[in-house]
Amino acid sequence: MKYLITGAHGQLGQELQKLLRERGLTFVAYDSKALDITNREAVMATFKAEQPDVVLHAAAYTKVDLAEDEGRAMNWQVNVTGTKNIADATKQYGAKLVAVSTDYVFDGLNVGEYRETDPVNPRNAYGRAKLAGELAVIESGAAAYIVRTSWVFGEFGNNFVYTMQRLAESHPKLTVVNDQLGRPTWTRTLAEFMLHLIAVEATYGIYHLSNDETATWFDFAKEILKDTTVVVEPVTSAEFPQKAYRPKHSVMNLEKAKETGFKIPSWREALKRFLYR
Ligand SMILES: NC(=O)c1ccc[n+]([C@@H]2O[C@H](COP(=O)([O-])OP(=O)(O)OC[C@H]3O[C@@H](n4cnc5c(N)ncnc54)[C@H](OP(=O)(O)O)[C@@H]3O)[C@@H](O)[C@H]2O)c1
Repeated sequence: MKYLITGAHGQLGQELQKLLRERGLTFVAYDSKALDITNREAVMATFKAEQPDVVLHAAAYTKVDLAEDEGRAMNWQVNVTGTKNIADATKQYGAKLVAVSTDYVFDGLNVGEYRETDPVNPRNAYGRAKLAGELAVIESGAAAYIVRTSWVFGEFGNNFVYTMQRLAESHPKLTVVNDQLGRPTWTRTLAEFMLHLIAVEATYGIYHLSNDETATWFDFAKEILKDTTVVVEPVTSAEFPQKAYRPKHSVMNLEKAKETGFKIPSWREALKRFLYR
């Protein structure tokens, strides 16, 4: 079985490479320089040459605020056209696809947990593009899993955990938003789940996957810095205006993922394992 990873230099792409290497699985990994997924001919040529059995699609345009204006075209090209190219190639070469999407396909205005079948209503440009990417995957007719995730952190690349640790080096006090509720996701948990879907031959379709239990960014920051002397104080989103809309309550239900037999650690457990690895 041969795996092909897109977006190989991203947070998730690097974690996937590490996990596949640890498990002794055969894979090829393409970063944006080796394979620009917006180039349909290049995508088709790569699939023809590699003949992958499984495609782990981690490439994405992830600059949520820039996607509102100067990154608008790029957001659409990568997250919609690029994902369509990958899905069409997966279908043409008879592979299986695991594509990654986001909780931003929802508006974050509900009070409970979002199920996979709940109506979508993206409120920012990134969320709209990721949703169009999901539809491109479905329309391609490829054998595909779409895994929606949220608040991704891990060993590789920029993320909230590293930002908090960096700020803590020079600030005795930090203020962090306490009115957005969600679920952090360790890249390791996400990568393991992507391989799990393939291993157990789960039913194709949409899955929600984050770490278990909910948090605000303030809760998350406090846990990250709990072994330091830094004081973390809660503030409202109004004090940290951002260009793109952010959901207030973005908690995805994890039952469908659990029903595949996958054990999901809580975000506190995942963070502990990440920090003390
Ligand atoms: N990060 C989060 O909090 C979060 C939350 C929800 C969902 N997700 C989703 O999770 C997945 C993984 O995200 P991540 O955090 O690993 O993102 P990331 O660190 O930004 O990695 C994305 C990778 O995609 C590559 N890429 C961009 N344009 C490309 C192109 N045209 N062709 C090929 N590769 C291209 C980037 O390469 P360059 O660096 O060279 O541009 C980058 O290495 C994505 O689908 C994302 O939408 C992420």
